[in-house]
Amino acid sequence: MALTSSVKPNFIAPVYFGRMDATQPSSLPAVPADARPSIVARGFRANQGALSQRHWVRNDPCFTAFFNALSAVFPHGETFMIKSLMPWVDRVPAGLKAQVEAFIEQEAGHAREHGAMNKALVGAGYDIEPLDRKIRGFVAFFQDASDMVKLTATMCIEHFTAIIAAELLENRYHLDGVEDEMRELWLWHAVEEVEHKGVAYDVWKHATKDWNPVKRYLWRSFFMLAVTTSFFINRSLGQIELLRQDGYGPLWSLKNIMQAGFGSGGIGRNVLGPWAAFFRPGFHPWDKDDRLLLAGGEADLAGIAAKRAGYGKALAAEPQTNIGPMTAAA
Ligand SMILES: [Fe+2]
Ligand SMILES: [Fe+2]
Repeated sequence: MALTSSVKPNFIAPVYFGRMDATQPSSLPAVPADARPSIVARGFRANQGALSQRHWVRNDPCFTAFFNALSAVFPHGETFMIKSLMPWVDRVPAGLKAQVEAFIEQEAGHAREHGAMNKALVGAGYDIEPLDRKIRGFVAFFQDASDMVKLTATMCIEHFTAIIAAELLENRYHLDGVEDEMRELWLWHAVEEVEHKGVAYDVWKHATKDWNPVKRYLWRSFFMLAVTTSFFINRSLGQIELLRQDGYGPLWSLKNIMQAGFGSGGIGRNVLGPWAAFFRPGFHPWDKDDRLLLAGGEADLAGIAAKRAGYGKALAAEPQTNIGPMTAAA
C-alpha cells in the first residue's frame, strides 16, 4: 500500500532531533515538570578501603584512567557547580528552589564521596595533584565572573554529566567486571546526576526569561562549545597524566584513550548524539525521558545492597552486556 504524505513514518529523524521545529515552545519537554522524578540525596557513603587492583575497570589501564580522571576533578568541580547555583536559590520560584536545594545536597555528596575514592587512588600510588591543579585553574578562571556566567557554565557542564551518567545507566557494559563497591559509587552518582539533570537548565531558563531568544540561543551555544573544548582537552590530558604514571607514553595513551572513548561502544561516541541535541532550538534536558534508566539504576543499587546484606547472588544485579567485554589496551 502506498504511503500517503500524512502517514509517512519518520525514518530519518533520530530521537533527539525528533522535533527540529525552531518554533517549538521550550516549555514543553517530553517529561513535564510535574512528571519528573523527585530529587533525593541518598546520603550514600563510599567504601573507604583500598582499591582491589590498580586498574579496577577490567584490569584495563585506559578505561580505568577515564573514570579516575573524572573522579579526580569531581570534588572541586562539584563544589564549583554548587557555588554557581547558590546565588539563585532565592531568585527562583518556590518549586524550583526546592529542586536547587536538593541539587546542592546531591552534589555535595558526590564531592565528598569522590574525595574518598580519590584517597584510594592516592593509596594505589597515583599523584592526582596535576589533575586537581587543572580543575582549580578552571574554577579560578571564573572567580570574578558574574553569577550569570557561572550559572551558564554550570548548566552546560550539567548537560555533560547528565549524558555520561545516562550512558552508564543505559549501557551497563561500561561497568562490567567492576567490583560492587566501585559499581555502587558510579551507579549512585549516575542516578542522582540524571535525576537532577533539568535543575541548572531550569534555573538558567528562569534567569534569562527576559532575554531575546536569539541571544539566549547564541549564549548557551557559545558556552557549550567552550565547556566542551575545555572538558575534552583537560580530561584527555588528565588520562594521559595518569597513564604516564602507569608507565605509558603520551602517544600510546592518546591513541588508546581515543579508541576506548570513540571506538565502537565507547562512551564518547555514544554521547555524541545527546551532546549535539543541546544545540536544538527549544532543547530541554527532559526532552529525553530517562525515567526507565533511573528505575534500572535504582534496581541495580538495590541488588548490590541486597547482596551485601547476604541475600545471595540471585538478588544481585546482573550487569547487562550489550556487546562483548571491552578492552582498550592491547
Ligand atoms: Fe555530581
Ligand atoms: Fe550534577
